[in-house]
Amino acid sequence: MDCCFMFGRRSQHAVEGDEGEHSVRVFSYNELRKATQDFSGANKIGEGGFGSVFRGMLKDGTLIAVKVLSATSRQGVREFLTELTAISDIKHENLVTLVGCCAEGSHRILVYNYLEKNSLSQTLLGSGYSSIQFNWRARVKIAVGVARGLAFLHEEIRPHIIHRDIKASNILLDKDLTPKISDFGLARLLPANATHVSTRVAGTLGYLAPEYAIRGQVTKKSDIYSYGVLLLEIVSGRCNTNTRLPCEDQFLLEKTWAFYEQERLEEIIDADIDEDQEIEEACRFLKIGLLCTQDAMARRPHMPTVVRMLTGSKSISMEKITRPAMITDFAELKVSTKPHGANQARSNTSRSFSTTEISEPFSSSENHTQTSV
Ligand SMILES: Nc1ncnc2c1ncn2[C@@H]1O[C@H](COP(=O)(O)OP(=O)(O)O)[C@@H](O)[C@H]1O
Ligand SMILES: [Mg+2]
Repeated sequence: MDCCFMFGRRSQHAVEGDEGEHSVRVFSYNELRKATQDFSGANKIGEGGFGSVFRGMLKDGTLIAVKVLSATSRQGVREFLTELTAISDIKHENLVTLVGCCAEGSHRILVYNYLEKNSLSQTLLGSGYSSIQFNWRARVKIAVGVARGLAFLHEEIRPHIIHRDIKASNILLDKDLTPKISDFGLARLLPANATHVSTRVAGTLGYLAPEYAIRGQVTKKSDIYSYGVLLLEIVSGRCNTNTRLPCEDQFLLEKTWAFYEQERLEEIIDADIDEDQEIEEACRFLKIGLLCTQDAMARRPHMPTVVRMLTGSKSISMEKITRPAMITDFAELKVSTKPHGANQARSNTSRSFSTTEISEPFSSSENHTQTSV
């Protein structure tokens, strides 16, 4: 398919392909430089596997989030615009909207709507102060919304999209706490041997299905696993990994499974949730989280089924829940952002790998996992 990029008025590019004409707004570098006050440190709101994100304001007052892709994510202008046009066509209430991009010279920049309530990692799971009250109804809305967004990516668009990086920092919230999944489709902007999964961020590892983390096997079921971990976080209000806790409490999934076996599941639920009916529903959500993280991929329900389980139109009483797959089963796990050997949190003698050591293998189906003694 040959595409041509036509310059329209006011930086609007139309990208024409076999399926008709689409448009993605193309910003000049100068426009984005002004919008972000020269990409100032004060406007920097985060840094992820793709590059840095800045808050900005367009001339008309619209707030934007500007994602400056790092060198590893660069590709030719034509290829970049074609991929972006495909992404910008994907619209759903629970997906972040791509506003436009910039592909001037070697710059590759994505422009999104700015979501003022930030991400779940900074609010629900963040250590700092958050003014948002996540009552049970808000959590249900977030859990169901994310499941719907993911079901849409998996089942309703062609070709379907595997997200590859479902985690709390990729769930953004709008002003009425409607969740929006961000960073979908971006894996296609990367060279074949690169990954944007930033396992250097403590906690990211906890979202990865073992078959993905160890063998680089990417399927809808690896997204479903990550969703399961996220669901446990939403219900418990705590991050999937917390190395400051005693060993047996560090990993949320391990702990949830232990409590499930001991029939004490309600003890995992965030203390803010205290009404009987809500606790009952929250326990159901935790069981769905355990189903999504089952070791055998075939046991993990597809996302549309997850939506029906969450909303109660499909019962889970007949579902057999077995021990979930935990990456700690594969080696003694040491979660650290420090260089190798700097943290001996769990054991000095057993085989261990740190998040930095398994940051490479994701895009390959071969096992490149490095371990160390
Ligand atoms: N559209 C947006 N609106 C508001 N904040 C955003 C937006 N996109 C990204 N962010 C913030 O920028 C941070 C960095 O994003 P990103 O580069 O995607 O890295 P990651 O998702 O790995 O944290 C996120 O944690 C989020 O808080
Ligand atoms: Mg992100």
